[in-house]
Amino acid sequence: MSHDRLQHSNPMGRAYTQPSQGLTTLVLPVDPAAPDPAAIRQAAAVLQHGGLVAFPTETVYGLGANALDAAAVQGIFAAKGRPAYDPLIVHLAGPEALPDVVADVPPLAETLAAHFWPGPLTLVLPRCPRIPLAVTAGGQTVAVRVPAHPVALALICAAGFPVAAPSANRFGRLSPTQAAHVLDDLEGRIDVLLDGGPTPVGVESTVLSLITPVPTILRPGGVSREALAAVLGQVDVAGRVFTAEDIAPSPGVLAQHYAPRAKLTLYQGSRRAVLQAMRTVAAQLAATGQRVGLLLAEGDAAAFAGLPVTVQSIETGGGLEGAARQLFTALRALDRAGVTAILARDFGARGLGLAIRDRLTRAAAGNVVCVTNET
Ligand code: TXA
Ligand code: MG
Repeated sequence: MSHDRLQHSNPMGRAYTQPSQGLTTLVLPVDPAAPDPAAIRQAAAVLQHGGLVAFPTETVYGLGANALDAAAVQGIFAAKGRPAYDPLIVHLAGPEALPDVVADVPPLAETLAAHFWPGPLTLVLPRCPRIPLAVTAGGQTVAVRVPAHPVALALICAAGFPVAAPSANRFGRLSPTQAAHVLDDLEGRIDVLLDGGPTPVGVESTVLSLITPVPTILRPGGVSREALAAVLGQVDVAGRVFTAEDIAPSPGVLAQHYAPRAKLTLYQGSRRAVLQAMRTVAAQLAATGQRVGLLLAEGDAAAFAGLPVTVQSIETGGGLEGAARQLFTALRALDRAGVTAILARDFGARGLGLAIRDRLTRAAAGNVVCVTNET
């Protein structure tokens, strides 16, 4: 993209207050391990001129702008349709840049950075005045992380400033784990997309507050609760995180987030009981003309033999790393298949299971069935 076009699309120095005007999104394919410096320079120049660049991180694709430029940051909110009350994560090229964006670096932040950065851990710390209030949604704290992805790191280095970036999806939609997902939601609303292939972790970073007396997980993500506890000893999980069998405020009460288009119902309980309940409901829905999609673990599909259903199965070995990597792609695939109802099973809370459970519970907007007895 030439700077001329950027200035033309941004004549008042305010980025993209009318995203419907239709930008052309330039897609630059890059090697995820060793991105072409020319492509990185081109994308960094767009950021330097107040533009918007989507880029891969190890978790999901981010939608970046200069974190020190309030007008550029406003462009992120406009492109995503994101409400101004939801603050953004500031991405750094390395932990040495932390004092530039926070008012205080407590020893615990240094310990966590040494263990988990670069990586999928976001720390909430006191904001330094350099960070515009547009980034922090008016608050006095700022969320910060160092992403573990060569493309993200090269882009931040070349830009020369911290990069504010939420996930590169329209507000309320599933986070993008592939460049095509970004284009589905944001084509024509952003300047550049660096296509570095699928993202390796697949769920967003763990957001950990260091403001609270005991470090508190505000959003479970790519660093597991167990891994944090091993370093911190004590770690709390915020009440608004969906953890165990504690779900279900009434359906519709929860703000829908991470949502596929079809209505999603989440089933929790023992595998056998859950599959039995899901089979019964799938058959009933199919009989009333619904197109049913199932999100299952590998090996579950046999329980639905003979039913007219669309199945997406995800790997559930180890600490659920495979499941996390495949989760959003599987949900998008069910959407693309045109299903009208999705029945998803819970995958437990070990490792990345907590993050998966949180995302599926939000996608279900409280529509969670706890199956206690086999019928
Ligand atoms: O993995 C990730 O975290 C991705 C990649 C692009 O880095 N980013 C991401 O950003 O998921 P976003 O904006 O989709 O989610 C950021 C989360 C939101 O839940 C937001 O409310 C929370 O972080 N957050 C941001 N700043 C905060 C703050 N100062 N205090 C508490 N929560 C904050
Ligand atoms: Mg997001």
